[in-house]
Amino acid sequence: MSNFVEIRPRELKPALLELDGISRVTIEAHYRLYQGYVAKRNEILGRLPSVDLGAANQIHSEIRALKIDLTFAVGGIKNHEVYFDHLGGQGGDPDGRIGDLIERDFGSADAWRSDLRATGMAGRGWAWTAFDWDEGKLFNYVGDAQNTFPVWNATPLVALDVYEHAYFLDYQTDRAAYIEAFLRNLDWGVVNGWVASYRIPTE
Ligand SMILES: [Fe+2]
Repeated sequence: MSNFVEIRPRELKPALLELDGISRVTIEAHYRLYQGYVAKRNEILGRLPSVDLGAANQIHSEIRALKIDLTFAVGGIKNHEVYFDHLGGQGGDPDGRIGDLIERDFGSADAWRSDLRATGMAGRGWAWTAFDWDEGKLFNYVGDAQNTFPVWNATPLVALDVYEHAYFLDYQTDRAAYIEAFLRNLDWGVVNGWVASYRIPTE
């Protein structure tokens, strides 16, 4: 018997099917990947209670495999929920409190964009603009997979997916062109909602 709660994928916002430069077919395929992470998370949490813990000191144990796969699935859920939630907007320079934070911590919106672009080109899977609660400021962190390399006690506010599945149908290998499309579709209102609801200090 297990006491975990199965979760369901969030609905895909209709605006995501009409993005500028990221096609409907890409978004639909991408959303199915996200649904897969949710299913995997539920499956693993259902299996863990019956795992033989006596074998846990073995590097090839079942519990090691399941726990690693769990970080991948949960990372895939969290990363994609940020990604899908904050697309569907008009892009442009960040405004409101996130605009103030970016200007304070990067110097300007242009400097933030340049750093995020470079981070996105350097990563194998993700670039995140995250508020690091210990540092008290924003950073653009790099990620390779769903479970590498999130940083403890940092809250992602922008999640740039640079896995090929995010752009290959639309741009083939031209990741830089996809990153520009991503920036054109950011919804800063959504990001400002997170800044408020997470009570991120802007002073
Ligand atoms: Fe993705």
